[in-house]
Amino acid sequence: MIKQAIIPLAGLGTRLLPLTSVLPKELLPINGKPGLEYIIDECIGAGIKEVILVISARKRIIKTYFYNDAFFKKIISKKRKDQRLKTEYSKIKKYKKMIKFVYQNSPRGTGDAILKCRKLIKSKYFLMLLPDDLIVKNNCSLSMLKIHKRHNSSVIASKRVKRKDVSRWGIFKIKKNSSNRFLIKDVVEKPSIKSAPSNYAVIGRYILPAKIFAILKKQKAGKNGEIHITDAIRTLIKQEDKFIGHIFSGKYLDCGSMKGYINSSIKMSKL
Ligand code: G1P
Repeated sequence: MIKQAIIPLAGLGTRLLPLTSVLPKELLPINGKPGLEYIIDECIGAGIKEVILVISARKRIIKTYFYNDAFFKKIISKKRKDQRLKTEYSKIKKYKKMIKFVYQNSPRGTGDAILKCRKLIKSKYFLMLLPDDLIVKNNCSLSMLKIHKRHNSSVIASKRVKRKDVSRWGIFKIKKNSSNRFLIKDVVEKPSIKSAPSNYAVIGRYILPAKIFAILKKQKAGKNGEIHITDAIRTLIKQEDKFIGHIFSGKYLDCGSMKGYINSSIKMSKL
C-alpha cells in the first residue's frame, strides 16, 4: 500500500518573478488558498498518510507556514468568536501532523530532490507530485493508485499537448492499449519538435518504485546540469520495468508560469 508522497519544492520559481523573489511560489494563493494546499489535499483524498516536502534553506518560510502555532493561538485567544480562523488553524494542524521536511539546498533537479528522501521511504513504491501542476475536479493521484494496485507497476500522469509545445515537457514514447491508458516504451526530457516520440506529455504525478534511488545515486547530471527524474525512469524502462501512462480526466491548471498562474486563479474561481 502506498502511504507516502514526496513533493519537491526547492525550485527557484524564476518563471514567476518578481512574485517569488520573497515568497515561495507554492505559497502563492490560487483563489484564496496556497497552491501547495491543493496538492496536499489531493494526497489526503488519495489516502496518503505522510507527505515529505523537499525544501531549501531559502524556502524555510514553507515550514513556518505549518508551524506558526504560537501566532494562531495568540490571535484566536483574542478573537474567540472567529469560527473561520479556528477552522483554518485546525486544517493547518492536520497538515502539520502528516508533513516531514527534507532539505535540498542547491536546486540540482527533481531526481536529486527525490534522492534526498531515500531514507524516509518505507515501502516498495511512493507517490511524487510536482506542485506546478494542479489537477482539479478529479483526484488524479487516487486514480493512479487504483491502476498501480491492479497492475503492480509504476504509473505516470499524462496529457496530450500541442506538437509545437513538446519541448516544454517530458514526452513519452507509447504503446496505446486503452483510451485513457498506455504502456510507456520510453520518455525523453524536453525533446525538440523534430525528435519528440509523441505528443503525450509527462504531467507531475508519478508512482515510482523505491529501487529508483539506486539508479539516481549513480546517475550523472543531464540537461542543464540537473539530475532529472525522467532520466532515471528511462533507465528503469530499459531494464524492463513496467510503467503505465494514465491520461487523467481532471482539469489541468499549469501554475508554473506567470500566464498559467494568473489563468489558474481565474479558472479556479469559476469552478
Ligand atoms: C518537469 C518534468 C517534465 C514534466 C513537467 C510537468 O519539468 O521534468 O518531464 O513534463 O515537470 O510539469 P519542469 O516543469 O520542472 O520544467
